[in-house]
Amino acid sequence: MPADRLRHIPFSGIREVFEECDRLEARGEDIVHLEIGRPDFDTPAPIKTAAVDALEAGHVHYTSNWGIAPLREALADKFATDNGLAYDPDGEIVVTTGATEAVLTTVLALVDPGDEVLVPDPCWTYEPSVRMAGAEPTYYPLDPDAGFQPDVDALEAAVSEDTALLVVNSPHNPTGAMLSRDRAEAIRDVATANDLYVLSDEIYEQIRFGRDHVSLAALDGLFDRTVTVNGFSKAYSMTGWRLGYLGAPAPLAEAIVRIRQFTTTCAPSLSQHAGVRALEGDLAAPLVEAFAERRDRVASRIADVPGMRCPDLDGAFYAFPTVPDAAADGESFVWSLLREQGVALVPGTVFGEAHDDRVRVAYANSLDRIDEAFDRIEAWAAGRS
Ligand SMILES: Cc1ncc(COP(=O)(O)O)c(C=O)c1O
Repeated sequence: MPADRLRHIPFSGIREVFEECDRLEARGEDIVHLEIGRPDFDTPAPIKTAAVDALEAGHVHYTSNWGIAPLREALADKFATDNGLAYDPDGEIVVTTGATEAVLTTVLALVDPGDEVLVPDPCWTYEPSVRMAGAEPTYYPLDPDAGFQPDVDALEAAVSEDTALLVVNSPHNPTGAMLSRDRAEAIRDVATANDLYVLSDEIYEQIRFGRDHVSLAALDGLFDRTVTVNGFSKAYSMTGWRLGYLGAPAPLAEAIVRIRQFTTTCAPSLSQHAGVRALEGDLAAPLVEAFAERRDRVASRIADVPGMRCPDLDGAFYAFPTVPDAAADGESFVWSLLREQGVALVPGTVFGEAHDDRVRVAYANSLDRIDEAFDRIEAWAAGRS
């Protein structure tokens, strides 16, 4: 029998959608993919060239557990310039194998078995990391009527004497919301009053459409208790390179590195050299511009489908609308739409406690394909009216 902890670690709900897409595509059907949380672009050419150069130069060995020095130095500059955060490249920045590993090692380093971890609802898959640490997630609601800002009263009420860590994610997967400064400060007050660590997942930081990004660690009183997680997957379309990073005060960074010596040892060496190049100049700008155009298209197409509604899309590349009037709930809508019309979305239930009236739309696809998807959604709804 596998270990007991697996009782709480299911296969990802998105995987079932992927598998059905594979089956339908193997039969020759044309599927429009709006389910995958990865940009469809190629990685910008200068970044690829830097990896080839690193390979030619023989950078094929283990690196420091903390990451290569030039990357940590470039990340310290990035944190200072973009986030107003003064992390020491030597002891306060850790390069990781994707943000996924940054999240897992942070939780393992800061949380004991039996502790509770506050996690937003809805959210990306933080729960498996919490479970692997033997801790329990406690969900705090994001309020759809307030643009999916955290309900801070409910957050405060969810704190118990076992709460050790509070997870925040902005820009947010799956809603596309961005944390406002007011709510960020209210969260700060909860964290400091209750002596909580904070994990601020900022992986979608660069993909935002006008709103200011608030880095939690930059708020008064939070630096010493916050781990800032970020990565290269999204803004540089580098999901396959497995390159993430975190900034944390020295005692926390050291604890995390002690864990990660025994997870993946170091991030891939070639990816780290490529990461240095990614941080020179503004290579993310064309991708972000393309996402802004797609955001506008998705928002207007959602608004045209009777019953589909979502707040403003401020960042990341997701929308989390209610299902069309013609649908009973998110699950049945997703499966019926996929099988009848060949459009892949993800049911809202995958992202937290309920949300069976919602679906996630990932607009990591071209404008033409987005239009095609919504034409088919309209045809699906028309067939039922
Ligand atoms: C909110 C959030 N955090 C972290 C990750 C992990 O990113 P990666 O491990 O590719 O850096 C994702 C990926 O979808 C995400 O949506």
